[in-house]
Amino acid sequence: MTGLIQFDEKTGVFHLHNQQISYLFAVEEGGLLGHIYFGHRLKDYHGGRAYPRIDRGFSGNLTDISERGYSPDTLLREYSETGFGDYRLPAILIKQENGSQATRFTYEGYRIDKGKPKLEGLPATYALEEDEAETLTVVLVDAVAKLKLSLFYTIYRDRAVITRSCRLENHSDVPVFIDKLASMTLDFTAQPLELISLPGAHVNERQLTRETIRYGQKRLVSRRGTTSHQMNNAAALVSPQTNEFFGEAYGFALVYSGNHAIEIERDQIDQTRVVIGINEEQFSWQLSPKESFQTPEVVMVYSDKGLNAMSQTYHDLVNERLVRSYKHQTRPILVNNWEATYFDFTEDTLRPIVDEAQQLGIEMFVLDDGWFGCRDDDTTSLGDWFVDKKKFPNGLSHFAEYVHSKGLQFGLWVEPEMISVDSELYRNHPDYRLEVPNRSPLLGRQQFVLDLGRKEVRQAVIEQLESLLDQGFIDYIKWDMNRHLSDVYSARLDGQCQGEVFHRYTLGLYEMLEYLTSKYPDVLWEGCSGGGGRFDFGFAYYMPQSWTSDNTDAIARLGIQYGTSLFYPISTITSHVSATPNHQTGRLTPFATRGDVAMSGVLGYELDLTKLTTAEKNLVKEQVEDYKSIRHLVQFGRFSRLMSPFEDNRAAWMFTNADKSEILVFTFMILNHAQQPIPLVTLNGLNTDKCYQNVETKEIITGSELEYLGWYEALSDKDFVSHRYHFKEVKGGDSR
Ligand code: DGJ
Repeated sequence: MTGLIQFDEKTGVFHLHNQQISYLFAVEEGGLLGHIYFGHRLKDYHGGRAYPRIDRGFSGNLTDISERGYSPDTLLREYSETGFGDYRLPAILIKQENGSQATRFTYEGYRIDKGKPKLEGLPATYALEEDEAETLTVVLVDAVAKLKLSLFYTIYRDRAVITRSCRLENHSDVPVFIDKLASMTLDFTAQPLELISLPGAHVNERQLTRETIRYGQKRLVSRRGTTSHQMNNAAALVSPQTNEFFGEAYGFALVYSGNHAIEIERDQIDQTRVVIGINEEQFSWQLSPKESFQTPEVVMVYSDKGLNAMSQTYHDLVNERLVRSYKHQTRPILVNNWEATYFDFTEDTLRPIVDEAQQLGIEMFVLDDGWFGCRDDDTTSLGDWFVDKKKFPNGLSHFAEYVHSKGLQFGLWVEPEMISVDSELYRNHPDYRLEVPNRSPLLGRQQFVLDLGRKEVRQAVIEQLESLLDQGFIDYIKWDMNRHLSDVYSARLDGQCQGEVFHRYTLGLYEMLEYLTSKYPDVLWEGCSGGGGRFDFGFAYYMPQSWTSDNTDAIARLGIQYGTSLFYPISTITSHVSATPNHQTGRLTPFATRGDVAMSGVLGYELDLTKLTTAEKNLVKEQVEDYKSIRHLVQFGRFSRLMSPFEDNRAAWMFTNADKSEILVFTFMILNHAQQPIPLVTLNGLNTDKCYQNVETKEIITGSELEYLGWYEALSDKDFVSHRYHFKEVKGGDSR
């Protein structure tokens, strides 16, 4: 045992710790679990945070405990329930046979295991070696309802990360209904805290928002059946003084792609409770005797060095212990035909784009929506995953062969969760969609959602995708989803089980993804949902990258990519250079700026390459060549945010390799103003005792100057200007 988790039998205190963090909680009188601490590593704990026993008015006392001041009303809890004096946010609500939702779970025992067990049917972070992590299982029981609740905690040896989830088992002989089963509760002592979240909209995802936590309750939710563009399922609590480089930050990311709820409540004495898990609205799960229910996992990160350090911990974890395929493999530069042609193409009209891509050094051609069934617009053919012979008279393989013959890889778009009424799938199986009896279902982008909770529905789609993928010519799949769930009712479930449909949809989807991504591990899978509507840790487990937003405008992308990077590593953030005027905003942005923004993620192009001027083609050629030489640094280097587009008229970020010998900096000035403040750029995390050379100008500068003194950015008389700086350490060149 590596000794990451200790239990003190005398005091009843659990201590999870590594060199960076400590997490403590205790078994209190009456078998309640009281939270003690989560933060910077402690060497030991001598009881300083035994929760004071104060007799509060209107706070009940547990009858089996004599001490009057011992009220669950304000206790810091490890997992919160309802019915016995804790009036704050509950994590669990179980409707029992007698109609009561109250539970009283008490401590029964614990076990500590090496490594990290898998979560059945759910994506989760993993450990590769047994001694890189330890998992604590704390078992609680409700003796009256005969329910067993296991709380799982994993701590990694070398990361400031704790993961949490729980499992409920029904040991009674009657069914109960889970009305809520959150993955975790975390209670904070009385202290000022701010919330950072990532709300947004379609074409405006993950707009970093910061607010003070005040009294009452705040809920960050999705009710759309998927993660959503509107509210991402990751958030952070920070001290008011925390910025990118200093201060405490607590990150929370749910490994899930369905309805979520991140709930925050500041109580009567300024303590803050966080409860995170599946959204309990429209959720009710029948748990029969002997059955169990596993919640998704939450990944918690602690940083006392600001938000960049929190993000970097997440980035490393995702790259090393969440993503499974294409791990640390550089990603190909692709051209996607969506904004170039939309639905209007044939093999003949696409070939010139492929030819041009080859000339420019691009490595993959992605055939987007419109290649299948008879899909010339969005009214038809979803569900029919066979080629449109009008557009590809010699079949898809013929076109793919052409792409391959040019030395490019071939990628394909699919939207497997959907069905069009005008499709063979619908004509044969009109009952496969989600639909409430006797009500006409809601159309979204002219399409309906398949009931993925049903095995036969999943099978019908999987077989079609297999017959495509088995042909062996597909190197990449873009898995899209262009509407949210409505009419959430399954023809295969009894009336009292309809509250299960949302979660069963997500579980069904995960089962499909597990099957397909395991069967075709060499395919590069890219997640997408009308841009970045399903950017989450759950999807990252199956698909190592995701289309970040349908908004390809470089200036809008500054904020979208900045916000996304709070939790998600650059290797997951795909970013394309598109045409100008931009199709979403109408903005005219210089080609170089569009390139610099896209090169700050996983680079691609999304425009008709044949329509570019010669000068633009030369620029693309340069960008592509350039990106090939820096992409490992961009995709897998250390990413630090320097200036926020949410705070100012500019943005800046940098990439650093492992030994800090190579640095790449991008800066962006958004609007030009008269009497513009002169922006000063300073870097972070360099070898301050070394010298660096600017690769372009050959100037040699000390690391300490770059880090502390910086440089004034040249002012421009134009809007939307970007700069790129590439520094390499001068070997043997220590600075004085
Ligand atoms: C939404 C995606 O985000 C776009 O990139 C494109 O694939 C369209 N769907 C196609 O319908």
